[in-house]
Amino acid sequence: MNNVVIMDHPLLQHKISMLRDINTGTNEFRQLVEEIAVLMGYEALRDLPTENVHVTTPIEECMTPMISGKKLAVIPVLRAGLGMVSGILTLVPSAKVGHIGLYRDPETHAPHEYYCKLPESIGERIALVVDPMLATGGSAVSAVDFIKQHGGRTIKFMCIIAAPEGLKKLAEAHPDIQIYVGHLDRCLNENAYIMPGLGDAGDRIFGTK
Ligand code: PRP
Ligand code: URA
Repeated sequence: MNNVVIMDHPLLQHKISMLRDINTGTNEFRQLVEEIAVLMGYEALRDLPTENVHVTTPIEECMTPMISGKKLAVIPVLRAGLGMVSGILTLVPSAKVGHIGLYRDPETHAPHEYYCKLPESIGERIALVVDPMLATGGSAVSAVDFIKQHGGRTIKFMCIIAAPEGLKKLAEAHPDIQIYVGHLDRCLNENAYIMPGLGDAGDRIFGTK
């Protein structure tokens, strides 16, 4: 799977370990998700195109690189992906934000779409899909399907924790996208939750149950 980057930076791993802890409360959990999104986004956006622009420094004039072309679209998969948006906007404040609303059927674990709205001219943007959890992969595959159906061509998917099953499914369904994973966990349990994982990301971010 050469379209997959599994990150191993110690700062990132430390924060993911704190996220996993059952004693980490809602406020701290939210803060950590945002910080992790910054660390991961920094790496995932390392190939943003730049162009040299003219700048006058206090010393002299120069040509110096700035981000070029159409801007980024960050697209959270609701609900839990919302927790990662502000981290990406810290890096690229001008990014547009789309939303893809999906929930997993509790019995079949299949994704169900309930709301989708993308920024205009998505085909000319880099679409960065964010969702903390890649479990069976059903939600991620559906989200990328939707973006492609609406003209998206340059797509990146970023998750904090992935299960091997879901990562394989996404990479095979969409070999043309780049996938960034904060940590690759062991497997899924009988309820399609990631082990060891961190539980239900949406519930932990929003304090629901
Ligand atoms: C979680 C998570 C992903 C999905 C991953 O969302 O945020 O979107 O599950 O599971 P999958 O890879 O098996 O599809 P959930 O459906 O629980 O919705 P929520 O964020 O609204 O709680
Ligand atoms: N969704 C979550 O929030 N957690 C999991 O472990 C699997 C799917």
